[in-house]
Amino acid sequence: MLTMNVKQSLIELPSDLQQQSIPNHVAVIMDGNGRWAKRRGFPRIVGHQKGVDALKNLLRCCDDWGIQSLTAYAFSTENWGRPTNEVEFLMTLFERVLRRELAQMMAEDVQIRFVGDLTGLPESLQKEIAYSMEKTSNNKGIKFNIATNYGGRQEILHACRVIANQVKQGKIDINDIDDRLFENNLYTHGLTSPDLLIRTSGEMRLSNFLLWQMAYGEIYVTDTFWPDFNRQEFHQALLSYQKRDRRFGKLNQENGK
Ligand code: FPP
Repeated sequence: MLTMNVKQSLIELPSDLQQQSIPNHVAVIMDGNGRWAKRRGFPRIVGHQKGVDALKNLLRCCDDWGIQSLTAYAFSTENWGRPTNEVEFLMTLFERVLRRELAQMMAEDVQIRFVGDLTGLPESLQKEIAYSMEKTSNNKGIKFNIATNYGGRQEILHACRVIANQVKQGKIDINDIDDRLFENNLYTHGLTSPDLLIRTSGEMRLSNFLLWQMAYGEIYVTDTFWPDFNRQEFHQALLSYQKRDRRFGKLNQENGK
């Protein structure tokens, strides 16, 4: 039935999207959960719960449309500054969702990876993370990366420290430090840089997300709050992406611009 699945995924790609220019890696800043809940008179945590559903739907959609990697910003190093009950709720939510969804992720061949300083997370969550990463490590489907206790600046500093230490120990020469070596020391090592970053709820900033990796990534911002982000919204984001002229600092080969 594998052929059926492949065919089905091709059929499901909207006809106005070009298969050959589908991004390889999509990243997402899932903003607006709290405001979504507040507008409906719910506590903020309801927004986070709904946000999990939106993320699951996006993961499935990425998989259906041939995207190879999805990276979601679930918890930043700055998010510790939120009220304790919200932080605790989020930590418990991550753990609960991981436990609940693991069988499904296995069935769908998803490879789960957490990126960030995982040592700063509650121990029970660290265990759940280690288990899900190890269990899905040989899966060959979409790479699902969850940035948790993640900060772009912290990631860069961490890489600097590791590399400086290697120089100090004489393991590498200072002239060996190049893009590749640096990237190999980021939390995201082994992943390609995102082609497209989507941010919901209208803010136009990176908020310390994938600072190195987004050097040439395209950014798409929608006013929609994260819990309402769906297949139609994602379709719009991809249409916008496919209209971009990605030059990576060079000239366009056709018109010299
Ligand atoms: C930002 O909205 C959202 C977060 C800080 C949390 C996002 C986490 C999830 C959707 C859960 C993901 C779960 C797993 C297991 C990966 P906000 O609270 O900043 O919204 P606001 O700007 O309206 O206040």
